[in-house]
Amino acid sequence: MEKKFVIATNNPHKVIEFKRILEPMGIHCVSLKEMGIQSDAEETGTTFMENAYIKAKAVFDICGLPSVADDSGICVDALGGQPGIYSARYGGEGLNDEDRMFLLLKNMESEENRAAHFTSAISCVMGEERVIEAEGYIFGRLTREPRGEHGFGYDPIFLPDGYEMTTAEMEGDAKNAISHRGNALREFAEKLKEYYHDADK
Ligand code: IMP
Repeated sequence: MEKKFVIATNNPHKVIEFKRILEPMGIHCVSLKEMGIQSDAEETGTTFMENAYIKAKAVFDICGLPSVADDSGICVDALGGQPGIYSARYGGEGLNDEDRMFLLLKNMESEENRAAHFTSAISCVMGEERVIEAEGYIFGRLTREPRGEHGFGYDPIFLPDGYEMTTAEMEGDAKNAISHRGNALREFAEKLKEYYHDADK
């Protein structure tokens, strides 16, 4: 399956995760930076999948190559699923990843129910009318303090169920083996295989 896929994201951490997960499966990925493409589509969708499609389609419209995007976020039970699709914008403008993480901890200060999960929606635009979609999750709970230097975003405060390490204390491959993005991308790779198998018939 030696085909080129453009990773429709400006997040360098996501690029690394996409490559580490997809390249060993023979799916060749190039970043927007490597392609010299500038795209910053506005995320006007109301679901993770709608936003993933918006980002992938914007890049497909620029380059005409299969373009794959992830829209993801952390959903906290005690906050009714927030920040959810607003995870990257939590607290409004002017905050960085670390500020948002501390804001979430502060908003959860008096909360005993720490249950949370990450969702990743993958949309890959293969052609004008051809889209492959996949979704993945990881369930766990929020810590009370950040731990670990790996990963990005809310990783330092997320303990997956069955683990005593946050996803920021895990090496890249260990996180990818259980993460929402890893799960979604593995499902995507399966669907891609079926897609090419059907196309060959
Ligand atoms: P997006 O680029 O709109 O999909 O934003 C996703 C946001 O959700 C990121 O900026 C992070 O704050 C958070 N997020 C998504 N995936 C992860 C992850 O794997 N670890 C930590 N935070 C994540």
